[in-house]
Amino acid sequence: MSLLNQLTSDYTQAMKDRAETKKIALNFVLAQAKQKRIDTQKELTDDDIIALLKKEIKSINEAISFLEKAGNKADEIAIEREKIQIFQSYLPAMLDKEQTKKLIETLIAQLHITDLKTQRGILMKELMGSHKSEIDSNLVNELIATRDSQTTSPDQGSEEKSQTGEGVITVLIKDSTGKEVGSFQVKNDENASQSIQELAAMHGIEIPLACGGGVCGVCLCKVESGGEAVQSDKITAPAISLPQDANGNPAEILACVAGIKTEALKKGGNTTIVLQKAY
Ligand code: FES
Repeated sequence: MSLLNQLTSDYTQAMKDRAETKKIALNFVLAQAKQKRIDTQKELTDDDIIALLKKEIKSINEAISFLEKAGNKADEIAIEREKIQIFQSYLPAMLDKEQTKKLIETLIAQLHITDLKTQRGILMKELMGSHKSEIDSNLVNELIATRDSQTTSPDQGSEEKSQTGEGVITVLIKDSTGKEVGSFQVKNDENASQSIQELAAMHGIEIPLACGGGVCGVCLCKVESGGEAVQSDKITAPAISLPQDANGNPAEILACVAGIKTEALKKGGNTTIVLQKAY
């Protein structure tokens, strides 16, 4: 039985049993699944449903944080935690940290990856393809970042440093409604080799992240201005085809693989890049 059919059957049973929290939780996910099917015009796979469940668990955890800060919300928090348990019961067993680390190392060897900076997309494509349902993408990104920092030699850092110059790039981020959520600056050689998503995170600005390798599209941003200073394949080439503006500059980027153009930093002067998150 597909996961969608299982959820539908369990929803019917929850109604019969008058299991209120389960009924509400499953009804919500089934409504989301229905909308996604309409939007994408295709039948949903188990992986699609798993992604919906994980997204909902993340939203509920955020809601719980707000409720905890508000205080005196023990009953509401208990209900939200129950929903998380219900959703988790449909998820496949996830690999723990050590197992995920081992999987990454195995794939790096199997795929003959020698430089994660330029070949990260190859690894992420494999992880998000064959292993998507059993891995935590945040953990994967954390492990890759740690591995990357441990394997980057001091010489590599200084090489990047010598390639950059005097420019100051201001990056302004808007949410999906167009509201400004924050901005940061990249100067000279400072963090010039990092993705826009990583730079934003360092400055406390969240851009949604899932695959981290230019595959899933979760970190999609519209480039409102300053596209001439943006390099859409700074980390690795995105797997999704993205539009350009009339001047051939990126009109949309995947923030996990896009970065600041080294030439824009070397050129000097001030440039502002305005990005609007799609999600
Ligand atoms: S997080 Fe998947 S494409 Fe950027």
